Amino acid sequence: MLSSSSAPPLSRRGFLLSAAGILTAAFALALARRDANKSAQRVANSVLSAKRVAPSMWVGGVTNSSAVIKAYLGVGMRGQLVVREVGNVAPALRFDIASAAKGSAIGSAHLTGLQSSVQYEYSLEVEGRRVSLPRGRFKTFPSGVASFQFAFASCARTGSAHQVFTTIRNKEPLFFLHLGDLHYSNIAKDKPALFRAAFDSVFTSATQSQLYREVPLAYVWDDHDFGPNNSDSLAPGRRSARVTYQEYIPHYPLGAGAGDVPIYQAFSVGRVRFLLLDVRSERSPADVTDGPRKTLLGSVQKAWLKQELLATRDGAKLTFIGSPIPWIGAGRANDGWAGYAFERRELAQFIAAHQLKNVCFLCGDAHMLAADDGRESGYAGTAAAPIPVLHGSALDRGASFKGGPYSHGYYLPKQNEGCFGWVEVRDEGARIAVDFSGRTHRDEPKIRLSFDCTI
Ligand SMILES: [Fe+2]
Repeated sequence: MLSSSSAPPLSRRGFLLSAAGILTAAFALALARRDANKSAQRVANSVLSAKRVAPSMWVGGVTNSSAVIKAYLGVGMRGQLVVREVGNVAPALRFDIASAAKGSAIGSAHLTGLQSSVQYEYSLEVEGRRVSLPRGRFKTFPSGVASFQFAFASCARTGSAHQVFTTIRNKEPLFFLHLGDLHYSNIAKDKPALFRAAFDSVFTSATQSQLYREVPLAYVWDDHDFGPNNSDSLAPGRRSARVTYQEYIPHYPLGAGAGDVPIYQAFSVGRVRFLLLDVRSERSPADVTDGPRKTLLGSVQKAWLKQELLATRDGAKLTFIGSPIPWIGAGRANDGWAGYAFERRELAQFIAAHQLKNVCFLCGDAHMLAADDGRESGYAGTAAAPIPVLHGSALDRGASFKGGPYSHGYYLPKQNEGCFGWVEVRDEGARIAVDFSGRTHRDEPKIRLSFDCTI
């Protein structure tokens, strides 16, 4: 009662002012709420972003004097990689790391001027502060006569954290060659975001991220990580696949340059040459009649491969061809080399005609371990040096048998079993010996093949 009787009557002006005040307050409250929402959103975004760009860095493209490191940095961020020689108190080397592409959260750094056969460790600094990540490491490749060991494999479920990746890491290979199906996203759209999300799931997986941080990666795709099942040059996502590959993968210089190009590449370790093929992004569709117009590699890549093979006559003493699909097999309705038998014969005849020795295929795609000493792999139609063929799959995927026959048999992974190939190269100067074993994630050898190279 008191309040109503004692309160002065509200004039019209006063009422309007008062109403304006309430409106202002309401507006201010709305603004504050909007700002609060924005701020919360920013926090949420940063959390999301932090989740998406979980700290991770990975190494590849290693040579006897250089390496490539990729890392999650955040869009527009710059940082530094601090690189130390293990066991050496010399001041650390510093390399700038910056976005690999416009609008990309992935940083890329090319480390040069390194010493051959030296173990390095590296850490990441952003805005002068070290990112809380375990140090990465890698060993630069040897030059000249040198022995080494490497692992190869293909095919793992998207974002797999299978124990097999830890087994490979614990064996400390000089590098890990991944022959495709890094993920099974089967992307059929030309959207880089889809490829980025697939790579994110791989490079943030607990076991894979540690492997790629500590063991140099060399990788070329197969069908499921390039496009849909059995994909070819008509895959809708071809351009995005090629561009995001270069954004995320620490690769060797691509034979075709940079940008919207196939990803074939080569590197050397000691006196051994590795030629990695892109068997997807230039291939003719499977239903093209086999003959001179049906190609798996495309004319430019094929010319590159022949040139590289010829060059090995004067340089390398042993050449591994990384082919993400099986070399051995029969039948035209085949996603492997058998479906492109005309081109396979052309290559086999080229190798035979130039008397190229010590060529060995490393193959993926088939989810099995297998080995052939050259008895079943000759497609030249004439006498030629045997071409051993090795299969080391699948990392984390159901079993499948493809191609064959294989002189030294095959092994299909059991349920939940991971598999990989392990290769020991012993270069003794006058002789190079190769020991292959196809292994499970428990490091049990299931398939073996050894051969000597004629120097
Ligand atoms: Fe696969």
